[in-house]
Amino acid sequence: MLRPATSHSIPLCPLLKPVVSYPCNAVSIRRIAVATATASLSVNLHETLPYGPSLSKGYHPSINPKLLQDNDDSFDEKQFTRVFDISAIRVSADRCFALESQLRGHLLNWPRVRNIARVPGDEIDAQLLKYFKLSDDESLDSLNRRIYGKAEGDGEKLSPVLYRDKLAKTFNSRGYEKFRNLARLSRPKRKTKTETKEVKDHKRSDCYLVEEVVDDQSDGEKGEDQSGLIGDDEYRLGKWKGSTRLLLLDERHAHKSFDELPEAIKACVKGALFELVRCKLTLFYSYWQMNEVLEALLPKHMIVPSSFETVGHIIHLNLRDEHLPYKNLIAKVVLDKNKPKIQTVVNKTDAINNDFRTMQLEVLAGNHSLVTRVVENGLQFHVDLASVYWSSKLATERQRLLTYFTRSDVVCDVFAGVGPLALFAAKNVKYVYANDLNPHAIDYLERNCVLNKLERKIEVFNMDGRRFIDAIFKSQSTRPITQVVMNLPKDAASYLDAFKGIFRDTERSERLTLPTIHVYGFSKAEDPEFDFHERIRIALAEVAFEVKMHKVRLVAPGKWMLCASFVLPERVAFANPISEL
Ligand SMILES: C[S@@+](CC[C@H](N)C(=O)[O-])C[C@H]1O[C@@H](n2cnc3c(N)ncnc32)[C@H](O)[C@@H]1O
Repeated sequence: MLRPATSHSIPLCPLLKPVVSYPCNAVSIRRIAVATATASLSVNLHETLPYGPSLSKGYHPSINPKLLQDNDDSFDEKQFTRVFDISAIRVSADRCFALESQLRGHLLNWPRVRNIARVPGDEIDAQLLKYFKLSDDESLDSLNRRIYGKAEGDGEKLSPVLYRDKLAKTFNSRGYEKFRNLARLSRPKRKTKTETKEVKDHKRSDCYLVEEVVDDQSDGEKGEDQSGLIGDDEYRLGKWKGSTRLLLLDERHAHKSFDELPEAIKACVKGALFELVRCKLTLFYSYWQMNEVLEALLPKHMIVPSSFETVGHIIHLNLRDEHLPYKNLIAKVVLDKNKPKIQTVVNKTDAINNDFRTMQLEVLAGNHSLVTRVVENGLQFHVDLASVYWSSKLATERQRLLTYFTRSDVVCDVFAGVGPLALFAAKNVKYVYANDLNPHAIDYLERNCVLNKLERKIEVFNMDGRRFIDAIFKSQSTRPITQVVMNLPKDAASYLDAFKGIFRDTERSERLTLPTIHVYGFSKAEDPEFDFHERIRIALAEVAFEVKMHKVRLVAPGKWMLCASFVLPERVAFANPISEL
């Protein structure tokens, strides 16, 4: 039985209430695929339900109430075990791949379940071994020495490359020295971090189990008549010689005898050695997708949380009030289904409303470290979500903005945070000045510059934005700034007045470049672009200039984040703040 998230009563999803299960007296189960638990109950497919695996199909085995965990925030993963009756065709291992492609359309086509199951005795038949005289390590070693001139214990591990090296040496006299790189070129590439086939197979087999059902009462009164299940005369009773595989048949054929199978299947296996067997396919908690588990756990009327933001090893949720009684359950499922990449699940407890734009976060599951490493478009960023701002959702916008910059640009990022835009810009432009008021953000910004070997192209400042604009434009020692980025959407527009008169002490000349400003803002207005444009005009007290407006994204229903790009109007840059404007 599912446990509620807290000690008060929370309605359980009816789906997960224990169901009546059927004992299988006369049936013993032979395990075929690797797994972690054994199911011992029979299941029928609900034919009225749509194709494929579903938690509302099949049944789960009876659950011992003692297995339930005492922790209120937890649930018993065994609730998600489902057993399905299926049929399979046993064939010899060497024929299974050919048959698999011939039987396409008739085999089980469920996600993450391989339709070829391995069986015990896969290894070479003991009786055949003696013909090869390879029954012990010694004879294998001598065979290796004969073929490769080396055996496993002789030094370097045997590999095709060693064999290739030897070949190259042998044939040098015949001209292979012209291809001195031959052996090196054929050397396999160093393994990358991608998962090996074995790891993938292991993961896959951990989430389901195929067991063959062996009928103990083949001719007893109670037993079913199995005669139709096996193939024709060519089926050889007794032990199979050599290794075999099971081809899992589609769920439609679960209870059919051989005669009832479609002609296409019969035609494929005809003339070959085969056997129709009954199997149980058990799907475990680890098989089901996150949304399937959450749908089953949460009350029926409740929307299943589905949009999460990932920052390094952290997923942050933005749970609605109705989810809060279930927050720990939700976090556990989110963590289970996203491990090992995700190690921590947090929930945003409050809207962002402080100056440094940091989130109020509650750790719900996993480890409590909020310091993480994010990789975005080839750059690395260290971030502490507890003390600095980070949004992976702005990755596309950062790349869009970069298209405005050229190699000759000098960029000034007024609200730089830990430096995502500043660092990307530094890779492509002449120089970057990056500023932020939050001292923690500055610490990380400096670290990130070094981490990405860009410290020589960025100068970092820790000042209020308005003061920074004034200082950087008036300083004699800075390079002429051509691009300014102001990403503080809540109130960056109100900092625009800092540009009034920034060049008033500078001589007007044709060589002076007026900077292009990219300022971000939010708008809930019916015409957000017009609204933001108006606010910029008011802030600069100037009307005659062109503004390019870009809608970045909807941050909440009816609330847009926008980016306005314009060249600073000359009248504003040379204005005397008091007398002219
Ligand atoms: C929305 S975040 C953007 C950070 C960064 N550009 C990014 O995309 O990740 C705004 C940043 O402005 C900083 N900030 C807030 N008020 C500021 C001010 N008055 N002067 C300078 N920086 C300020 C905050 O600390 C925060 O890091």
